[in-house]
Amino acid sequence: MARTLKLTAVATQLNASVQLEEGDAMQDGTGQIVALAGATGDLGHRIAAALHARGATVRAIIRPDTSEGKLAMLRGTGAVPAPVDFGDAPALAKSCSGADMVVSALNGLEPTMIDLQGRLLDAAIAASVPRFMPSDFSLDFTKTRPGDNRNMDLRRAFQARVDAAPIRAHSVLNGMFADLLTGQAPIVLHKQRRVLCWGDADQLLDFTAKDDVAEFTADVALDPQAARFSRIAGSSVSARQLADTMTRLTGNPYTPLRPGGLGLFSILITLVRTFSPKTDEPFPAWQGMQYMRDMFSGRGKLTPLDNTRYSKTDWTSVEDVLAASLPPKTL
Ligand SMILES: NC(=O)c1ccc[n+]([C@@H]2O[C@H](COP(=O)([O-])OP(=O)(O)OC[C@H]3O[C@@H](n4cnc5c(N)ncnc54)[C@H](OP(=O)(O)O)[C@@H]3O)[C@@H](O)[C@H]2O)c1
Repeated sequence: MARTLKLTAVATQLNASVQLEEGDAMQDGTGQIVALAGATGDLGHRIAAALHARGATVRAIIRPDTSEGKLAMLRGTGAVPAPVDFGDAPALAKSCSGADMVVSALNGLEPTMIDLQGRLLDAAIAASVPRFMPSDFSLDFTKTRPGDNRNMDLRRAFQARVDAAPIRAHSVLNGMFADLLTGQAPIVLHKQRRVLCWGDADQLLDFTAKDDVAEFTADVALDPQAARFSRIAGSSVSARQLADTMTRLTGNPYTPLRPGGLGLFSILITLVRTFSPKTDEPFPAWQGMQYMRDMFSGRGKLTPLDNTRYSKTDWTSVEDVLAASLPPKTL
């Protein structure tokens, strides 16, 4: 009996300490102000909603000519629109004033990712905001090779700038958005029942659903002790495992399709880039191929993962994403 009581007491203590640790990890945004640029975007509006759900006040720094439709969408997230001319430094600093954190979910090429984000960073510093998050949300560009991926080079260039600035920086790295597997990223080839891979069909690839990225980003944004880099993945799976998943989901056999190794893929990327028309698009086909090369080479692999850093446990797997995209009859 005494032994049972003692065990119960130990269990109660353990439970209390687990609850305490879980409680400590929860990010409560009550009383915090987050200034968010890019809040009208795909990822940005999800971050706005996640911050609002945590009780934070979200000030959405947007262009003065933002459409009524985008404004309505933004208000739906609970964010407060703060239109500003991004070229007006004092006005931009004023829009950051009083914030605990400035988050960038901007998207674009050098004029946006370096120049505009740079102006936002300067504004945050001028307004004495203690923390800043650049719009990274990618594979691990701290480990990939300069020159291999145009968009990762832009992130590296901005990293040098933000790390030299008198402000604490936090980045979230999440691999590829898992949602892209259902269409935009030509990896799962439904018609051919194949899963594309270059090089090693067993190389693990990181995928995270956009909503999960947004929720984790909100936790980081509200954590004054957040790490410089947080690495997350809803799933880390190989092309072979993706094929097995599709076989299981559809009842039809899917197999990896390996057109060649990474050397051949690099030649193809150069050819596609050379013969593609010049564009201001952030993600032309050749850039998507560069991104896939960084995944299939393993250089952009995220490790170790920080998924358990906060209270979030409901990570969406690639299987969930792919299953949701299939017509009901194939399930
Ligand atoms: N890992 C992945 O697989 C993956 C995939 C896609 C994107 N991403 C990354 O996720 C981040 C957000 O991308 P997203 O897809 O959410 O982008 P998005 O939907 O294109 O949204 C971009 C946001 O940036 C704003 N913006 C762009 N140029 C601007 C300018 N000159 N002045 C003011 N605002 C400007 C846009 O405002 P307006 O609405 O006013 O235009 C919009 O709010 C980026 O870092 C992107 O590279 C990662």
